[in-house]
Amino acid sequence: MTAPSDPALLPEAEAAAELARLAALIAHHDRAYHQHDAPEITDAEYDALRARNAAIEARFPHLVRPDSPSARVGAAPESGFAKLRHAQPMLSLDNVFDATGFAEFCARIRRFLGLDPAAALRFVGEPKIDGLSINLTYDHGRFVQGATRGDGTEGEDVTANLRTIAAIPQRLRGHAPARIEIRGEVFIAKADFLKLNEAQEEAGEKVFANPRNAAAGGLRQLDPAITATRPLSMFAYAMGEATEAPAATHAAYLDRLRDWGFAVNPRNRLLADETEAAAFQAEMDIARAGLPYDIDGVVYKLDDLTLQQRLGFVGRAPRWAVAWKFPAAQAQTTLRAIRIQVGRTGALTPVAELEPVNVGGVLVARASLHNEDEIARKDIRVGDTVTIQRAGDVIPQILSVVAERRPADAVPFVFPDHCPVCGSLAPRPPGEAVRRCTGGLICPAQVVERLIHFASRAAFDIEGMGEKTVTEFHQQGWLSGPADIFRLAEREPEIAAREGWGELSARNLSRAIAARRTIPLDRFIYALGIRRIGERNARLLARHYGSFAEWRTGMLAARIIGSEAREALGGILGIGPAIAEELVEFFSEPRNLETLDTLAGMLTIVPAAGETASGALAGKTLVFTGTLETMTRPEAKARAEALGAKVTDSVSKRTDFVVAGADAGSKARKAAELGVRVLTEAEFHALAMP
Ligand code: IVH
Repeated sequence: MTAPSDPALLPEAEAAAELARLAALIAHHDRAYHQHDAPEITDAEYDALRARNAAIEARFPHLVRPDSPSARVGAAPESGFAKLRHAQPMLSLDNVFDATGFAEFCARIRRFLGLDPAAALRFVGEPKIDGLSINLTYDHGRFVQGATRGDGTEGEDVTANLRTIAAIPQRLRGHAPARIEIRGEVFIAKADFLKLNEAQEEAGEKVFANPRNAAAGGLRQLDPAITATRPLSMFAYAMGEATEAPAATHAAYLDRLRDWGFAVNPRNRLLADETEAAAFQAEMDIARAGLPYDIDGVVYKLDDLTLQQRLGFVGRAPRWAVAWKFPAAQAQTTLRAIRIQVGRTGALTPVAELEPVNVGGVLVARASLHNEDEIARKDIRVGDTVTIQRAGDVIPQILSVVAERRPADAVPFVFPDHCPVCGSLAPRPPGEAVRRCTGGLICPAQVVERLIHFASRAAFDIEGMGEKTVTEFHQQGWLSGPADIFRLAEREPEIAAREGWGELSARNLSRAIAARRTIPLDRFIYALGIRRIGERNARLLARHYGSFAEWRTGMLAARIIGSEAREALGGILGIGPAIAEELVEFFSEPRNLETLDTLAGMLTIVPAAGETASGALAGKTLVFTGTLETMTRPEAKARAEALGAKVTDSVSKRTDFVVAGADAGSKARKAAELGVRVLTEAEFHALAMP
C-alpha cells in the first residue's frame, strides 16, 4: 500500500473515491472496536483516519457523504439487544496532546464567546478512563433503562446487565428531576482485569486485550447472570436530557450525582484557569501508574453550564470540553523472566516476560530485548523494574531499567550458550550479534524449515516433498528429522488414506524418496543446511575430501584448533577460517553427528558429481588471471568446478591451464616459464563445452 497523499493536495477528481474508502474503512474499524471488542489498529491510527476524512471534507464540502464518519460516533449496535434511542445524542470528545493544543482549545472558546483573550476559564478536570460510556435514564428517581453509546444516537438496551452493577443506584436519593439521563463510564479496575484474564485463560476462554474490551464484553453478555460475575465499576460524569436543570455548574452537578448515590471519581478537580489545568495534567500523568484503573488522559470541561449551552457542539464533539491525552504510551513493570525464543533459522532471540501492565490501552506481558549485547548494554536483569514503551502498534520495547528499584539479589543476565529448545550448542560467530542453535536438523524450532531445505531442488531434490507436505507430515508427527523422510515408505498406506493424497500420489512420493537414496556427497553436505555452506562450499568440501568417510574424519579432527586437519580445512580455497568455524560447530554437536551417521547408514553417498565428470577440464587444475570479459571470476570458477576442474590461485608445476584475460600479468609470465598452457577466454569456453 502506498502512503496516502496529503489531503491538501488531493485533486477533486480523487476526493470522492477517497472519502468513500475512508467511510468504509472507518466503519470497519468502528465495528471491530465497538461490536467485537477487538480493535485492529491503535487509537492514534484511528484518529489519523478520521482527521484525514475531516480534512478532505473541509476542502470539498459538497462531497460529504450521507454516511460520512464525521456525522457518526462509534458503531450501530449489533443484534442481540433491543435498540434504544438516546433522548439526547451521546457525543465524543476532541483530543489535544500538549499545552499548545490545550491553549488553542481555550482560545477557540474565548473567541466563540467573545471573551477577553486574558479571561480566566474555569474547568473541571476528570481523569479519562478508557471504558465504555453508558446512558442511564431515571424516571422520578427510578432507574428505568440503560444503553450503550452505540452510534451516538441509538445504543443497545443493556438495562438488565446494568442492574447488576453495584455502582449504579436503582433509586436516586433525595430530590431528582422527573426525568433525567445520567452518563458515565463503565470500566474494570486494573487488578480486577488481570484476575479476570487469568480466570478466562484457565477456563480456556478468550483473553481480553485491555480493560476496555473486557468491560465491553462484560456489559454485552446476553445473560445478566454472567455480567454479574464481571467486576464492572462505573463513574458518573455527564448529563443528557433533563426535565429540570440539576445545577448551575458542572462541579455542582458532580456533587448532585454523589448525593444521588453515584460513584464520582474522587480525583476530579475544579481548576481556576488554564495554568491550573496544565498543572493538573502533569500531576495526573505522574499519579497515573498508581491509580487502580487505567487512564489515557484528562477530560477538561468548562465548569459554567450556561457557557456550555452557548458553546454547543460541532460535529460529534462539544466545544466546551476536550480530552488532553498523555504522550507516548510508557509504563513501568517488573521483568519476571527472560525467555529465549528460537526462530526458524535457529537464531536465539531474548524476549522479556513482564508482569502484565497496560501500556496506552493495551495489555503488555512481553517485550523485545533485541539481542545479547542490548541486554548487557542496558544491564537488564530479571527482577528489575523496567520502563517499557509501545511505539505505534509494534512490539513493546524495554527503554531502561529503574536502577533504584533493583532487587539486591538481581544478577547480570547470562545468555545461554545452548539452545533452550533442543539443547544443542548455540555459539555466536565472531562479529555477529546473534547466537544460533547448531541443532538445526533435530531442533523442533527449526526442523520444518530444515526439512524443506533438505528435500529442495539443489539438495535431495525429492519430488513432492515441498513446504506443504513437510509441514503436514511434521504436524502429523511423522517427521522430526531428515532420517524420517526415508522411513515414510512404511507409512505409504496411511499417506494414501490422507485427504488430497490417494494411492498413486503416495506411491509416487515413496518412489521419489527411494530414487534419492543414492546421493552425491556435495548435495548431501549442502542438504544438511550448515550455516554458510551453500552449494558452492558444499562442492568445494566434497571435492576436497572425496568421500563421506573422509569428510567426517576430517571434520572431527578439525575440531581441535591448530590441528593439521583444522589448517587443512581453513586452507581449502574458498573456505577460510570463518566457514571452517561453522563446520566445526556443527560437528561439535553430538546429535548432529548422530543424525549424520543415521543418514549415512540409510543412504549411498557417492563422490561429488563433478568428480565423475569426463571432459577436457575434468580433474584439471586451473588458474584464472587478468580481467575476464565474458564472465565474472566467480562465474568462471563455478563453471570450471562444475566440470570437475580444481581452481587455484597460484601457478605451479601442477597447474594444467592458466586462463588469461586482459592485462594478465605475473601469472601468465610464470605459466610461460613453467611451460603451463595458457588459454584465452575463447579457448576456455571451447574446452568448457559439454
Ligand atoms: S464526557 C460530551 N467525561 O471518553 C462529552 N467522557 O473520547 C461526552 N470518557 O465517550 C464525554 N472519561 O467514553 C466524558 N470524565 C469523562 C470521561 C469520558 C472517559 C470517555 C467516554 C467518551 C470518550 C470520549
